[in-house]
Amino acid sequence: MPDKEVLPLHIAVIMDGNGRWAKKRGLPRVMGHRAGMKAVKEITKSCRDLGIKYLTLYAFSSENWKRPKAEVDALMRFLEEYIDKELRSFIKNGIRLNFIGRMGALPDFVRPKLKKAMEATADCGNMTLNVALNYSGRDEIVDAAKKFASQVKAGKLGADDLDEGSFSGFLYTAGQPDPDLLIRTSGEMRISNFLLWQISYAELYVTPKLWPDFRRGDLIDAINEYRKRERRFGA
Ligand code: FPP
Repeated sequence: MPDKEVLPLHIAVIMDGNGRWAKKRGLPRVMGHRAGMKAVKEITKSCRDLGIKYLTLYAFSSENWKRPKAEVDALMRFLEEYIDKELRSFIKNGIRLNFIGRMGALPDFVRPKLKKAMEATADCGNMTLNVALNYSGRDEIVDAAKKFASQVKAGKLGADDLDEGSFSGFLYTAGQPDPDLLIRTSGEMRISNFLLWQISYAELYVTPKLWPDFRRGDLIDAINEYRKRERRFGA
């Protein structure tokens, strides 16, 4: 098990390859997402056991609405099921759930559940799990700029009050440390509009493993690779 001293405080994951995993087995794509949910469960639990304090998962991008309606519907149903089934276990394990993205566009049957899950886990202190839904890194930066502008308009802040630190406070991840390690599964060398502001100094780890095949041991490999790297923060 990795040494806690040099553990990443915050891990972000671009979970990719559910569709390919299903295709390889001659299964419908939604079966890949179902298998992906199992991996979400295992990796969340493993991070919590290892002592990772923040985990951010890219579950649904603002581009994912372009997928076939049946696939989008299935993903929303899985999300609902995931909250219904796991909420008690989150509370028991002290995991705070935080959904990030433009929640307003999500279906009516999902939104109240997300709110309830965030409220029910608000005091959980072992780990924060951010789940990005209808998320776009550029939208997040635009939303932060709008929040700042409304404070200026209200006479509460002036242009000079804005710097890197205060700007971070307007992001969906306000108050959280930036990711130290960004993992992407299934081999693509892209950022895909994920946490654009927050990953400035993150170490990138890309594995060819498809997300449903990504296990605790693969997470530990990624953490061990992270520990070997010398982080210079531009120095
Ligand atoms: C990427 O695989 C995966 C997604 C777009 C969705 C992620 C969803 C899950 C892991 C399951 C549900 C999660 C929660 C939190 C309820 P892809 O479909 O892009 O795969 P491909 O690139 O091989 O087609």
